[in-house]
Amino acid sequence: MNTTELIRKKRNNEALTKEEILYLVNNFTKNKIPDYQFSAFLMSVYFNGMNKEETSALTEAMLYSGKVLNLDSIPGVKIDKHSTGGVGDKTSLILAPIVACAGVKVPMISGRGLGHSGGTLDKLESIPGFRTDLSITEYKKVLKKVGAVLIGQTKEVAPADKLIYALRDVTATVESIPLITGSIMSKKLAEGIDGLVLDVKTGNGAFMQKEKDAVALADSLIQTAKIFNKKVIGFVTDMNQPLGNYIGNWLEVYESIQVLRDAKKNDLTELSLILSGAMIYLGKKANSLEEGIETAIKILSSGKAFDKFVKIVEEQNGKTDFVLHPEKYPKAKYKEVIKSKASGYLSEVNTYELGMVGIDLGAGRKTKDDKIDPKAGIIFNYKIGDTINKGAVLAEIFSDSKTGIENAKKRISLAINISTSKPKKVKLIKKVFT
Ligand code: URA
Repeated sequence: MNTTELIRKKRNNEALTKEEILYLVNNFTKNKIPDYQFSAFLMSVYFNGMNKEETSALTEAMLYSGKVLNLDSIPGVKIDKHSTGGVGDKTSLILAPIVACAGVKVPMISGRGLGHSGGTLDKLESIPGFRTDLSITEYKKVLKKVGAVLIGQTKEVAPADKLIYALRDVTATVESIPLITGSIMSKKLAEGIDGLVLDVKTGNGAFMQKEKDAVALADSLIQTAKIFNKKVIGFVTDMNQPLGNYIGNWLEVYESIQVLRDAKKNDLTELSLILSGAMIYLGKKANSLEEGIETAIKILSSGKAFDKFVKIVEEQNGKTDFVLHPEKYPKAKYKEVIKSKASGYLSEVNTYELGMVGIDLGAGRKTKDDKIDPKAGIIFNYKIGDTINKGAVLAEIFSDSKTGIENAKKRISLAINISTSKPKKVKLIKKVFT
């Protein structure tokens, strides 16, 4: 096959065959197609898209670029959840122990922060000692023993995605439905799961800001999961404000502890219970989504999910002392509060900007090699529609950088709007695909 001819074919908006896609992915992964040619191919996919057959061929080629894990030796149905990312989204930390308590196995291979959005691995690694780099043997051992395990992508799992993703990141080709589908599904299918719950975010803090694009992405992910014979439930959920109140790595672990141990109730709790319910249902431990949610509520209020969370931390080498006594965690050098200058209702939040401010405070990376400060972040106290009195503490900010704090204070004040008329409450769940 001729790479230039295949690029031309896609550029002219013709569909590629399965063999042609396999040739491109395999040869790029083996370093036989240079970056400049694969970039041109990616850009032609960005502009012309791919049909269902091409998307599934791309996913298959990426999936078999590495190992597909076999978890048959571990009893039980294995179900994972994937979120397309946002600000304050820490549901994995809450739902993994809940679902494991229900008797469903949760093998999770998660990612790091990407752009303005946080990543589960960075959050978990804020717990001193927590290892996200388990070998496949260790991964299976923890899963069998505890019922849930959370690790990062290994060299063996979907290596094509790692290479393609790095190129997409610097060629402005991330926001493409077939490319996102191939990337997410190749990693998830390689985990050895029986089913998957998808949380596709929409709103000003999501990669797919428009609801119609999020629905199209959910549809593509679901179609692909079905082609590979996986059970799947998809949700399109709101990301027009941070999920929960805490943004930043240790802060997000701390808020998860508040939900798991202290019965904190907010939109984070609600979404975690719904996603847990869907996983419990797919894992055959409930006869309907509603029954799954009921089971999740009971497990959460019994305190068993918190015990399971502590067990996961222990098995993955984390210091449980900090999870059992979060008040002992080291504090950021500087803390500031932002007070409201007016009374009214919180009507708008620039969620993307809050994510970016979090990065500037030290909670994320600006370059690939940046070090994260686990203590840095924001506690944002209000939800859209809440009444705010003049002088009320809107947000608390934490950082080791004094200038970072000063800049954050200005930017957060500009990122929110307080109106005199009451806005409509935000609908958390926009769409469900069962
Ligand atoms: N998450 C992924 O893993 N891949 C994408 O392309 C986008 C989000």
